[in-house]
Amino acid sequence: MARILITSAIPYINGIKHLGNLVGSQLPADLFARYARARGHEVMFICATDEHGTPAELAAAKAGVPVEKYCAEMHAVQAELARGFRLSFDHFGRSSSQRNHRLTQHFAGKLAENGFIEERLEKQVYSIDDQRFLPDRYIEGTCPNCGYDRARGDQCENCTKQLDPTDLINPRSAISGSTRLEVRETKHLYLRQRALRDRIEAWIDSKTDWPVLTTSIAKKWLNDGDGLQDRGITRDLHWGVPVMKGDRPWPGMEGKVFYVWFDAPIEYIAATAEWADAHGRPDADWERWWRTDKGAHDVTYYQFMGKDNVPFHTLSFPATILGSGEPWKMVDYLKSFNYLNYDGGQFSTSQGRGVFMDQALSILPADYWRWWLLSHAPESSDSEFTWENFQASVNKDLADVLGNFVSRVTKFARAKFGETVPGGGDFGPLETALVADLGARVRDYAALMDALEVRKAAAELRAIWVAGNEYLQAAAPWAVVKQDPARAAAIIRLSLNLIRLYAVLSEPFIPDAAATMLAALGSDDRSWPEDAGAALRAIPPGQAFSVPENLFRKITDEERADWQTRFAGLRS
Ligand code: MF3
Ligand code: ZN
Repeated sequence: MARILITSAIPYINGIKHLGNLVGSQLPADLFARYARARGHEVMFICATDEHGTPAELAAAKAGVPVEKYCAEMHAVQAELARGFRLSFDHFGRSSSQRNHRLTQHFAGKLAENGFIEERLEKQVYSIDDQRFLPDRYIEGTCPNCGYDRARGDQCENCTKQLDPTDLINPRSAISGSTRLEVRETKHLYLRQRALRDRIEAWIDSKTDWPVLTTSIAKKWLNDGDGLQDRGITRDLHWGVPVMKGDRPWPGMEGKVFYVWFDAPIEYIAATAEWADAHGRPDADWERWWRTDKGAHDVTYYQFMGKDNVPFHTLSFPATILGSGEPWKMVDYLKSFNYLNYDGGQFSTSQGRGVFMDQALSILPADYWRWWLLSHAPESSDSEFTWENFQASVNKDLADVLGNFVSRVTKFARAKFGETVPGGGDFGPLETALVADLGARVRDYAALMDALEVRKAAAELRAIWVAGNEYLQAAAPWAVVKQDPARAAAIIRLSLNLIRLYAVLSEPFIPDAAATMLAALGSDDRSWPEDAGAALRAIPPGQAFSVPENLFRKITDEERADWQTRFAGLRS
């Protein structure tokens, strides 16, 4: 048994996330957390809302509520949707927590002590019409790197380059659209990332098993002439973590806050402290996940995120940790995702294009979405959601293959043998072959899950479901029962056991269906099938079972067409 720490990139508080956001971090992180628990590991799975910075302020202003209230409400909404999608966080924290305030100020204090903070008089864009500085997303313009004309002041959404507001070509205020902008001087703190470059590079080079997508992005920003700039970590804003040097004031920085990207990843740690607080546990209980001097030396830490987040997690956050000089746990494996597109275009939060988490759950249960999203996760390249593809996957994989197997087996068993698992009869070559096949496939599935190969793992799981159907087809208990009821009983006993095996293996992908299958078999045996032969004897003759409600229903052509039109427009 190992100790596994899992974090999902923490979603911005501003509004409900779309399915592209979900499949890029929270959902695959949940898949892995559930799998790791199923394998008997001790798991800490952390997520939170990312509440500071200009996106939160802009959204609150648009909604006409104070930003604190906006964040509290939206956190509750996101937490409810996370429950709806069965995201099994041990804690869903808030980056605006006091824990994160203190820890962020602590890191800044340590960085200053160690000489990695520099105070600079900086030139900032000031909007004459808005009468304020315009940091980050308060300003929009053309990306100097790729020419995208809606780049934001902190990052270009199109090419992922991290930007400073003064880099933008043809800048305009995101509040008023005004172009009456001028550059004014203001004092800010800079994290001296350049001074940490060699240590960061050595650390990245030590991660030889990272996915190509992760390493290539990290290397690109590390080596591209201007890759590892010293980075401004404070802002002229009101909402955020007040700039302090540990618990002492920071002369000259009064009224300023830390940059959202400085405090957000620190929330991974702070949220684990929030978890301890919420359960009345001592600090030692969260520190054993995060402090290598206090027990975290044997933790394996996995991070999940979309590709636009990779530079922050491979360069900026490691710079914070390495520069602190303290023994914090750093990520061991960083799983990043490409983008999911929507029906010939992009999902877009700002434009309200695509299907959002609340809308998805309003039309179908979580498992349908979880299955499609995970089995089409944008791993090696971007992938695309289309309603045709969604309908086909649900109807084939879930309804025809898995759902139909469960329903045929339980209904036939009830009709011929009553509602208990039948005894008697012999196994023959068909069963021997099935056990050998399943043994190999289950090992393969586990290896793919261990390697975080999400799509391939889904494909192997589907193949395992298919193997059961093929077995049933070949064994044909409905024909055999006429001559040899005992043999039919053996086939059905094995098939009922297959349902339990499917529940255990499928639970990380489709937890509700897995629970229904186990409940139907009256079993709470969730033990992993290390030995397929033994696993197929777990449920003994005589045990009561019931025929479950249809596990999955099919999506009709009318529904598909209806949803396609309904979600074609832009969300208001
Ligand atoms: N809120 C960011 C996004 O949605 C992710 C922040 S991840 C963390 O892109 F590192 F800051 F925690
Ligand atoms: Zn760009």
